[in-house]
Amino acid sequence: MPDFQSFNIIMTNVLSQLENRVLTVTINRPDKLNALNQATLAELSNIIGDAKTDDNVAVIIITGSGEKAFVAGADISELATTNANTGMQFAQFGQSVFDEIENCGKPVIAAVNGFALGGGCELAMACHLRVASDNAKFGQPEIKLGVIPGFGGTQRLTRLIGKGRSMEMNLLGDMVSAVKAEQWGLVNLVVPQGELQATVDKMADQLAQSAPIALGMAIDAINRGLECGLNEALDYEVKAFGICCASEDKKEGTSAFLEKRPAQFSGH
Ligand code: COA
Repeated sequence: MPDFQSFNIIMTNVLSQLENRVLTVTINRPDKLNALNQATLAELSNIIGDAKTDDNVAVIIITGSGEKAFVAGADISELATTNANTGMQFAQFGQSVFDEIENCGKPVIAAVNGFALGGGCELAMACHLRVASDNAKFGQPEIKLGVIPGFGGTQRLTRLIGKGRSMEMNLLGDMVSAVKAEQWGLVNLVVPQGELQATVDKMADQLAQSAPIALGMAIDAINRGLECGLNEALDYEVKAFGICCASEDKKEGTSAFLEKRPAQFSGH
């Protein structure tokens, strides 16, 4: 198994395209149903790291190449060679990349265009919003390979859909349809396959017009709040609210409302 820390990053497995402040990141291994090997994770990490600090990027969309898969999981041929140590390294690396996505401070939409299995379901869950095409299928099938999810699947799934459904998905490992995933709260919206891109583009556009500081604070407050008690979480919300109140964008947003005109947010 290659040492990911010394991995030479060549962008071949992940494509990125910036248009109107929306960065579309496409996992691009269609022959392997976009399975996440270490090279792909390293490229994804690199792109998210750059996007986080680039003022030209307001919103990120993550999707999969081709019509069949979003991401069909961690690469099983790499998983097959792991031992206890390299397995833990692989899980830690995957978790660190998905943490970067969840905490990048900008809205990230998963456009789930097909299979979202194992690491694919975990990648979608690290995003802030999930829109699925009606052919998408979700699952944590790791149990069928003799392992458990290592990129957050036992934890983010439980937080999203509750313990009972999470147990069901993690223990049985069966696939769940897009419609059921929506009923369970695993996805925000399901649309016909042909409408996925337009739907996600419209959502991204709406987010790109919104106030970036407030978006970042909302993401942060929700993420942090899940990790602590209610009082601490509410205290954090008070501070985040104060930061928003000091922003130029709050002045603009409230003035625009009172002057009955659309707001033009600057990100300050
Ligand atoms: N890792 C590595 N390769 C994968 C993969 C994964 N997670 N998922 C699919 N592939 C590869 C297949 O090996 C195959 O490669 P090949 O053409 O070189 O043999 C190719 O992608 C196409 O997959 P295939 O299984 O032929 O497609 P299918 O339509 O018959 O089945 C799935 C689709 C998603 C049901 C099936 O590929 C699958 O079960 N994948 C593994 C899902 C999984 O367990 N994920 C968790 C991993 S921890």
